[in-house]
Amino acid sequence: VATQVGIVGAGPAGLMLSHLLARSGVDSVVVEARTRPAIETTIRAGILEHGSVRMLLDNDVSDRVLREGYEHEGIELRFNGEGHRIDFRALVGESVWLYPQTDVFMDLAAARERDGGDVRYGVTDSRVVDVVDAPAIEFTDAEGVDWRVECEYLAGTDGSRSICRREVPETARRSYFREYPFAWFGILCEAPPSAPELIYANSPHGFALISQRTETVQRMYFQCEKDTDPAQWSEEQIWAELGRRVEGNGFELRRGPVFEKTVLPFRSFVCEPLRHGRLLLAGDAGHTVPPTGAKGLNLALADVAVLHAALAGYFATGSTTGIDAYSDTALTRVWKAQHFSYWMTSMLHESPEANAFDRKRQLGELTSVVTSRAGSTWLAEAYTGWPHR
Ligand code: DHB
Repeated sequence: VATQVGIVGAGPAGLMLSHLLARSGVDSVVVEARTRPAIETTIRAGILEHGSVRMLLDNDVSDRVLREGYEHEGIELRFNGEGHRIDFRALVGESVWLYPQTDVFMDLAAARERDGGDVRYGVTDSRVVDVVDAPAIEFTDAEGVDWRVECEYLAGTDGSRSICRREVPETARRSYFREYPFAWFGILCEAPPSAPELIYANSPHGFALISQRTETVQRMYFQCEKDTDPAQWSEEQIWAELGRRVEGNGFELRRGPVFEKTVLPFRSFVCEPLRHGRLLLAGDAGHTVPPTGAKGLNLALADVAVLHAALAGYFATGSTTGIDAYSDTALTRVWKAQHFSYWMTSMLHESPEANAFDRKRQLGELTSVVTSRAGSTWLAEAYTGWPHR
């Protein structure tokens, strides 16, 4: 079969791209190795920038975020045992929404189904070929039938272990990495919310993040060692660790049964450029951020906004101006988000290499942010999301 845009990966980036292209009259086929139920049960991050929420609403994906999500007008930074609220609304007139990535996926998958989009889940043996001259995706579908999808442009939205990225020759790209000497231990528990908004805590025992999901389910994380095996951690140990990092000065966690434990990967990565011939990378296929600051999904959707405009422009006019500019345009935001995620990470985590000076300096940095309107405003701007173009 032939289509205008072949899309590898049906996560939020691939599905949003397919959805937006369809609204611009451009055909696409989306190919995904995982099954829909497998994606729907993978736990991912939970915070949407206002620009990501607008993408869902303005493009008629779903308004479920408004009914089932929670608007947050700030966060708390906690250090030296005290909480300091960063008031997004007052500082920049914006907010974010607590709405899990899994729900964003469900909304997009339902919208593609509703609109008759061609999305193949659960495919095997997928390969992308001839990305410079005559791109195609070859795969075996869930029924065992072999397919070859020929396309004019190929979008690689297949996540951090992208098969598309491998089609960019080593000589045509450069990779930028940063590893961190720690990871995150994430839990889901059955308990009422401990706080109305997220708490990002710096403590001598390491970082912790108190997040939420619903009135009865909560999401929390704490900094751990890289090789931590979550199965080795009992509930008592988990609560003790979270407690000593965030409790005090009248604040106490609401505890409850822990029903999910995972250790999250933690690194920064950028592949430049995000284009090779007719292949365009977006989202985690092109770059990864550490989870601090919740930029991963939001950055993927921001890439897609730029990529959609570029492809829609090409199919409407034949001009490749937008496609030629895609990588540079997207990377400008990517590097801002890389900086923000790195900055939040380094400001909040306990580094095993840090000495007493580093620790005091970190507290000085946190104090600067919370006592300076300029400092808090910069955090609020970055956290709620820079404007899409
Ligand atoms: C969540 C994850 C993050 O990485 C973050 O910065 C905030 C919230 C979450 O899963 O709720």
